[in-house]
Amino acid sequence: MLTLSDLPTLNATLNGISFAILLTGYYFIRQGKITAHKTCMLSALAASILFLTSYLVYHYNVGSVRFTKEGWIRPVYFTILISHTILAVTVVPLAVVTLYRAWKEKFTKHVKIARWTLPIWLYVSVTGVIIYLMLYRI
Ligand code: HEM
Repeated sequence: MLTLSDLPTLNATLNGISFAILLTGYYFIRQGKITAHKTCMLSALAASILFLTSYLVYHYNVGSVRFTKEGWIRPVYFTILISHTILAVTVVPLAVVTLYRAWKEKFTKHVKIARWTLPIWLYVSVTGVIIYLMLYRI
């Protein structure tokens, strides 16, 4: 049975999965494999939506979790956390527009915005894992 204390690990895992599927989806489009690209990107979206749901459930119940470590790691942690948070908010409208343009088959415009969406989404998912490791594992 999954308990509240399992959610941070689940969340980090979902972020890691998003990161891996986004990279795979990029690889597929570079190979010209459109259906595989589409499947990956929609799966990454599903993983990120699951992450967001589980993240909100966790923080609704637990509140915010304080970073207690001292020394050089503190500014590193907060730099990553702040950039992660700002870009996590930014990536939502970017992903919506990227998907909308793909859905409407406006692929030239899709590529234009996707070249921003993809690296930002990758950064948000990988820093999600890093923040988890810094907060709970080291
Ligand atoms: C938010 C999710 C998505 C992201 C982040 C994304 C990302 C990308 C990126 C970065 C490229 C450019 C690759 C390059 O540098 O050559 C691309 C191209 C493309 N994507 Fe997506 N994609 C997403 C969803 C989709 C979906 C759902 C479809 C549906 C079929 C799709 C269809 C295509 C096609 C056809 C191209 C090639 C366009 C061309 O070269 O003219 N993408 N995508």
